[in-house]
Amino acid sequence: MTHNKKSSLLCSLHSNLQLTNEAFLLTFNYAGPIPSGGQFFLVKPVLSPVFLPRPFCAFDFKETEGGERRISFLIARRGAGAQALCAMASGQDAVITGPLGNCWEEAASGAVKNGAGGRAAIVCGGVGIAAFNLWILETLKQEKKYFKFIDFYGGFKTEPFAFLSIAQKIEKAGGSVVIASENPACNLKYQDLNFNIQNGVATDFIDFKKYTAVFACGPLPLLKKAAAECAGNNVSCFVSLEKKMACGVGACLGCAINGKSGSKRICADGPIFDAKEMFL
Ligand SMILES: Cc1cc2nc3c(=O)[nH]c(=O)nc-3n(C[C@H](O)[C@H](O)[C@H](O)COP(=O)(O)OP(=O)(O)OC[C@H]3O[C@@H](n4cnc5c(N)ncnc54)[C@H](O)[C@@H]3O)c2cc1C
Ligand code: FES
Repeated sequence: MTHNKKSSLLCSLHSNLQLTNEAFLLTFNYAGPIPSGGQFFLVKPVLSPVFLPRPFCAFDFKETEGGERRISFLIARRGAGAQALCAMASGQDAVITGPLGNCWEEAASGAVKNGAGGRAAIVCGGVGIAAFNLWILETLKQEKKYFKFIDFYGGFKTEPFAFLSIAQKIEKAGGSVVIASENPACNLKYQDLNFNIQNGVATDFIDFKKYTAVFACGPLPLLKKAAAECAGNNVSCFVSLEKKMACGVGACLGCAINGKSGSKRICADGPIFDAKEMFL
């Protein structure tokens, strides 16, 4: 369920953990509305060289025993906006606006219109994993409300990151996990973890026809492949799309793209769309 409440708050950084050369996990003290898995926030440090805040998915949300709320973002250090965030030190402030957009829960309820109980696949590439952690935590608590089993496919160009606790939870709930890296050295590094670590591209290891629904986030080629395979096998496919944003609330049309039924704003109509309604 999407929470309609939004806030724009000055939040201090609680911790900044560098996971790989590219990926950082930033956790903020945050007193705002609770996000649903798949929703995003606009985030910008108070000290930033960029004018517009950047969109990032809520990776995690926790309420401590003392009632303090914390929100985490998994950020790939790319351009100036992400670099400024990744350079933040504990105690520094950022403006965090959200939660924004729709959520995976809405997509899942749309995917099981003809009855719950099948098998779903979560497919992500690189930092696309950020879109799923919160939803996996939510959905695994819901006693198989939509799907009997959820499998997880995570693809990474080089070093996998942020997958361990997701993979453990999915396996505990009876789902299978494939972590695919295009770097063969990763097979050796993670072989003690007993996960199915494959060398190659995540979508190569998916038997799409066994799923009721596929949920995907990551680079466009991954989304295109997932959407095409699902279309060919009559499987529902939902994708989280990205575009540069300005207002984040549907007002400026800066993130509009052409959908099959007209223009769609990624921030306000998405970011999660039924793949068959979009031109991928
Ligand atoms: C709804 C939504 C949720 C998002 N969630 C996350 C998230 O959880 N974590 C995260 O790290 N990112 C996320 N993104 C992507 C992130 O907002 C963009 O990468 C953003 O542009 C980063 O800003 P920047 O200033 O660092 O880079 P920009 O100044 O926008 O771009 C600088 C350079 O980086 C390159 N670049 C920018 N984005 C990408 C990209 N996605 N892939 C490859 N190269 C890129 C550009 O081509 C450019 O050369 C999300 C985007 C959307 C729309
Ligand atoms: S960013 Fe303004 S409409 Fe989407």
